[in-house]
Parts: sequence; C-alpha cells; structure tokens
Amino acid sequence: MLVKEFEVESPNVKYSKDFIEAKYKYETTEVEQHEGTWKVKPKEINYVFRTSKVVPKLGIMLVGWGGNNGSTVTAGIIANREGLSWKTKDGVQHANYWGSVTQAATCRIGNFNGEEVHVPFKNILPMVNPNDVAIGGWDISGMNLAESMERSRVLDYDLQMQLFDHMKDMVPLPSIYDPSFIAANQAERADNCIKGTKSEQVEQIRRDIAKFKADNGLDSVVVLWTANTERYSEVVVGLNDTKENLERSIAKGEAEISPSTLFAWACITDNVPFVNGSPQNTFVPGVIEYAVSKKSFIGGDDFKSGQTKMKSVLVDFLVGAGIKPVSIVSYNHLGNNDGYNLSAPQTFRSKEISKSNVVDDMVQSNSILYKDGEHPDHIVVIKYLPYVADSKRAMDEYTSEIFMGGKNTIVMHNTCEDSLLAAPIILDLCLLTELITRIQFRTEDEEDFHGFHPIAVLLSYLTKAPLVPKGTPIVNALSKQRAMLENIFRACVGLAPENNMLMEYK
Ligand SMILES: NC(=O)c1ccc[n+]([C@@H]2O[C@H](COP(=O)([O-])OP(=O)(O)OC[C@H]3O[C@@H](n4cnc5c(N)ncnc54)[C@H](O)[C@@H]3O)[C@@H](O)[C@H]2O)c1
Repeated sequence: MLVKEFEVESPNVKYSKDFIEAKYKYETTEVEQHEGTWKVKPKEINYVFRTSKVVPKLGIMLVGWGGNNGSTVTAGIIANREGLSWKTKDGVQHANYWGSVTQAATCRIGNFNGEEVHVPFKNILPMVNPNDVAIGGWDISGMNLAESMERSRVLDYDLQMQLFDHMKDMVPLPSIYDPSFIAANQAERADNCIKGTKSEQVEQIRRDIAKFKADNGLDSVVVLWTANTERYSEVVVGLNDTKENLERSIAKGEAEISPSTLFAWACITDNVPFVNGSPQNTFVPGVIEYAVSKKSFIGGDDFKSGQTKMKSVLVDFLVGAGIKPVSIVSYNHLGNNDGYNLSAPQTFRSKEISKSNVVDDMVQSNSILYKDGEHPDHIVVIKYLPYVADSKRAMDEYTSEIFMGGKNTIVMHNTCEDSLLAAPIILDLCLLTELITRIQFRTEDEEDFHGFHPIAVLLSYLTKAPLVPKGTPIVNALSKQRAMLENIFRACVGLAPENNMLMEYK
C-alpha cells in the first residue's frame, strides 16, 4: 500500500507552519581496548532535527548542459512537466522519473491490518518537485538544446519531435574552455567559450548564476558539473593545497587550475552548492578548505549509474556472504561523446581512479577472508566504439573463492543506456542537495542549530567515489549508502531507523 501523506504522531515531533522539528535518540557504540580485550559500549546521543518546510523555487545550472546527460535531463523534466506521451514500436510510453530514488522509490513506514505501508521517498520531507525547477547552464558548444538532444541520439524520435519547440531557444551560456584538461578531440565543438583571465572567468560564472537567479525569480540555485571528464590536476604545495594558495594561483592565472575547479570556486564564493558528476579531482585541497570555511555545500564525485552501481551491490553481497572475490575484471565500450573524450589516456586515467576504489571498504570489512593489505585483482578497461552510441555495454567477470577451495565465476553483461541512467541521478543530486540546505540539527547539549558538514556525504548513494570529510569512513556498499539516506530522512520526522528486525511478528 502506498500512502502519499502522513504525519508522525509523537510527543517528540512538532509540525509548525515553517518547520518539522523532531527529537531523535541516536543509538551507536563506542569501542575501546582494555588489556587485550575489546569493550563495546552502547551509546546514546539525543539530537533535535529541524527541517524547513519552505520549499524554494529552485534553479539547476548544468556545466556541460548541451551534452548527452544535460540534454536528456532537460528533455525529461519538460516531458514530465508537460505530461507528454509518445509512440514507440512497443506502444505508447508516458513520461516518468524512473531511476530517481527521490521520485520513483519508496520507504516502508509500517504495517496496517497486515499490509505493508510504504511512502514515496519524496513525501517523507518537503522537497522540490522536479517539474517546477528552472534549468539552464553552460557549454563550450553553443548548440541549442533541441539540436543537442538530436545529436545525443538518446530519446525516441517521436518524443524528440514533441520536445523540439520547447528546447530550441534554450542556448547554453559560454563556458570556461581549457584544452589541456580534456581530450584534444573535443576542440571541434568548442565554439562557445569565455575569454579573459582565470579571475575574469570566475567573475563571469558568478554573474551568470546571479542573472539566472534574477531572471527566473529563483530562491536558490544548485550547480552541477556534467561536462567532459577532465584529466587530474596536479596537487602541488603552494599552488592549490590551501585556500590562500589556490586564491593566489587563480589570480596569477596558473595553468594547472582546471575549469571545474574555477566553477567550484565561483560557486563557493556565493554559497551556491556545487556537485561534481565527473571523476576528476575538481576538489583539490584548496577548494575543500574554501568550502568548509564558507560552509558552502560541495558533493561528488562521478555519477554512479551502471557498472559501479552493480559492483557496489555484488561485492557487498559476496563479501557479506563470506565469499571471497579474488578477481574483478570490468570492460566497457561506448560510442557517445563521453567515450570519445575518455579515449585519451589522461582523461581515462581519471575514470580509472574513480572506478578502482569502490570495493575497498567491503574488502577491508572482512579480515577472515582477506589478510591485511590483501585485495582482489581489479582492472577496468574502457573503449570507444561509435556504433553503440549512448548504449554503453559493461561486461564484468567476478571470480571468487568459495567453500573448500572451489571457485565461483559470475559474468555479467549490462546494456547501460548511459544518459537515461544518469539523468534521474542528476535530478536526485540537485534535489537532495537543495534539501540538505534546509536541514539543521543540534545535540541536546548544544544551544544552536547547525547544518550538515559542507561536504555532502548524504549524496554518496549517487556517486562513484564519494567525497567525505577527512577522518570520515568512506562507505561504498550501496545498501549502506541508501540506508544512511533513508534513515536520515526518517530521523528528520522522528522515526527510528528501519532495522528490519520485525520483532512484532516473532
Ligand atoms: N551514465 C553516465 O552518463 C555517466 C556516469 C558517470 C559519469 N558520467 C560523466 O558525466 C559527464 C557527462 O557525460 P555525457 O555523456 O553527458 O558527456 P557529453 O560529452 O555528451 O557531454 C559533456 C558536455 O560538456 C561540454 N563541455 C566540455 N567541457 C566543458 C566545459 N569546460 N564547460 C562547459 N561544458 C563543457 C561538452 O561540449 C559536452 O556538451 C562525463 O564526464 C561522464 O564521464 C556520466
């Protein structure tokens, strides 16, 4: 059973016109070592969560707006907003938001007369409706969004025809182009670039955001990078290792400061949340320090849409079942512009790094199977093959050691439809980032409410290489990432975490 509206009846939860305020008992453990014995003490912390009910008029600005993801997410929002249906060879298809955890997934809230009751994720807390967002952005290619949609070859022809007039006047703003950061093969589409020094480019981005906000009467804006994967920036002491050094390097126009880092810098300066959907190290230490000092949200890195999502489920299952993956081999071929850009070794390297660490936490969690420092052999190959276009193929082989020296091999073939998987994730990232800015909390002992840490760990369900504050454990297992998201939503309305014990039936 699906309920869309509910209110929690509890002395610990207050609903007012402006806020939902929930007292919440957080139960955790403290681990100590005493003379060779481990002592684990249950610990309780009392929190108060306060979520603003005032849902803003939100703008989403995409860097790389005219790309496959950018044009697909734009088309998807318009198709949903206009309630479009279109003919395919399989029949009539209606617009939907499938693949978005906020829009198309549910959470269990209890049982009513023997029937399980679920609520849409988006209805637990007041959230922006994606149909209501204003969308815009930048691209180094000046092609309008209708033609970009055609170029990307993602959506059905009949749908494209219906969307064309809605999108033909949407033209990306000029962007920051630095050919040394992306593949040389991208030069031919770079006809829409901001001129000037790095400082002037940053100022232009800030003006663009302010104008977009004013022109559309927006309360807030989230900026998300879905432009080409850049190569890694070198992190150098004195260049970009601290906020001050990075500021000085931007002013001096140092070559090693990437366009994505300049976008992040511009956003942080004006407290505009910035999400990085690509694998490069946009968030060099100087950016992180700046974001933390300004309490401006940043999140990333790299959308988790296909192969990595499967990996973060499958390896979690195997290691959690006491089975030992020893070899993980991942091949991809894709024929879209992302694949074309990744065919250069330096941009591929960014992707390889992003994809390579995703099993680490699961492997390290089980020292019955893995000795200290031991990990499975793991390789990732990506090839550009134009014919398959956006329909990326991901092929994986997982070999594991099982009972009594046996071997188990799982081979998987995943036809990803890259941008149709990424577009709902882009929406989720923006909607969740906006929501996070409205949640505050304090412990019982603190007087003042404060927001979450500016590094938005809550987004990690949606990203391949989750960015976390120093000292925070990196969690890659998908089920744990989802549980974190769901349980924080639940905490905000005073509900206990879903513990799946079902004691009332035992
Ligand atoms: N499933 C997925 O599609 C998926 C998953 C994970 C990560 N990603 C990442 O998302 C990004 C976008 O993927 P895509 O398929 O839309 O690629 P795309 O090549 O179709 O689109 C990227 C767009 O960015 C533009 N661009 C390049 N440099 C720019 C800059 N400095 N400023 C503004 N625009 C710039 C390009 O002109 C292009 O239109 C890639 O980095 C990709 O690796 C995609």
